[in-house]
Amino acid sequence: QKSSKCSNHSSTAAAQIHLLLSQFRQASATPLHRLRQLADAMTAEMHSGLMSEGGSEQLKMLPTYVENLPHGDEEGLFYAVDLGGTNFRVLRVQLGGKEKRIVKQEYQEVAIPPELMQGTSKELFDFIAKKLASFVAREGEGFEAHSGHVRELGFAFSFPVLQTSVKSGILVHWTKGFKINDAIGKDIVAAFEEAIGRKGDHIRVAALVNDTVGTLAGGRYWNEDTMLSVILGTGTNACYVERVDAVPKWRGAPPKSGEMIINMEWGNFRSPYLPRTFADEEVDIDSVNPGDQWFEKMISGMYLGEIVRCVLAKFAQEAALFGGPIISPKLLEPFSLGTPYVSKIHSDESADLTEVAKILEDVFEIRRTTFQERKIVHDICDIIAERGARLAAAGIVGILNKIGRFHGPTTTTNGSYLSSRRSKTVVAMDGGLYEHYTQYQVYMRAAIDEMLSETAAQSVVIELSKDGSGIGTALLAASHSQYHRF
Ligand code: GLC
Repeated sequence: QKSSKCSNHSSTAAAQIHLLLSQFRQASATPLHRLRQLADAMTAEMHSGLMSEGGSEQLKMLPTYVENLPHGDEEGLFYAVDLGGTNFRVLRVQLGGKEKRIVKQEYQEVAIPPELMQGTSKELFDFIAKKLASFVAREGEGFEAHSGHVRELGFAFSFPVLQTSVKSGILVHWTKGFKINDAIGKDIVAAFEEAIGRKGDHIRVAALVNDTVGTLAGGRYWNEDTMLSVILGTGTNACYVERVDAVPKWRGAPPKSGEMIINMEWGNFRSPYLPRTFADEEVDIDSVNPGDQWFEKMISGMYLGEIVRCVLAKFAQEAALFGGPIISPKLLEPFSLGTPYVSKIHSDESADLTEVAKILEDVFEIRRTTFQERKIVHDICDIIAERGARLAAAGIVGILNKIGRFHGPTTTTNGSYLSSRRSKTVVAMDGGLYEHYTQYQVYMRAAIDEMLSETAAQSVVIELSKDGSGIGTALLAASHSQYHRF
């Protein structure tokens, strides 16, 4: 009798879990018509954001002042600092002109101490300037500066910045877990150059750019069909090449090419069509920026693991997933499950999901799971990653629609990129999430193909440029050099 009671109990629990899972699957669904609605909503918001400052509450659509995209002739030694995720990078690149291109490059990656992400701007920039100084001091053989001892640097600062020129800009607000209040509303380059000055180095910031813009520049250097770039890393964002006459809010001098690069800050996109669930609400409420960056919080590396954790915690609490009634404290600890684990769980193809078992034990200290439980964990990762990848795809299609890639441009500007009918549109992609999460790539590509006609889909090429943003930023320092015109 005891055993039948017990098996009754467990079969009710199993039924409850399956019910929760199917409800969650439904709430997260992104059928084709949904994706189309989202892409259209993205296009419409892009128009509003370009119309006037604050024209869209969601998409800032920030003009970047970048006029010269690198084309290959650039020569000399240039540096880049890339700040925007959990790590920052310093790199140097020796450029050899059209023939030799990138002669040599070196970089160093440094983890940002978490306390600096929420301290003062002086602490943060002093830390970066110090690492930069020691990196510059190790400039060795094979690197040769053009201009005496003043080094030129591109600064990829991957947060929403209202540019005031190509090498200055004001931080609007932080994203991705940074919260350094005294930096908001200040010129970021001034703060950085002051810190560099305190170190006594001769380094000048030649270009301040968003990481998307660095990635676009890096993509364009190799392939002139590059029209837009997307970051899928800690955060997510996109930028693209726009006709200046499609930017009514632009008050500056018209760029010679008739085009400008717009940093969309698409992470803050929102729409009633977004399939938000209880887990997204929890993630948002517990974040340092509640109410902001909804799209980013459903798509990017900083949050996917946390969404999975919230879902698992709910299933454990409400349906005794993992046996209950006592729940592992680790399962209730925010951000205990990093997105790389989601990718590992997802790619476990072993018959009894041994990798999943190991991760549950290592991360959450949950031992002795059943196959059914591991399968549910696997399914949850699949649902969340697929949703994220498909939403990113809808965003990309929204941009392609905006720039009229499949209908031809409405107006033409002589000699400009957009006026030419090219057979390919290259999307330059950077970011650890995309790079390391193969199934995410597969889902994203499939959704793009689903949304477009066959010919259109074939013309869209996604090119992963590992560290495109860092190299691209150094290239932008070159193409905006104060000493050289290439
Ligand atoms: C966040 C930032 C944005 C950046 C993106 C990717 O969304 O606000 O500027 O490009 O993360 O790093």
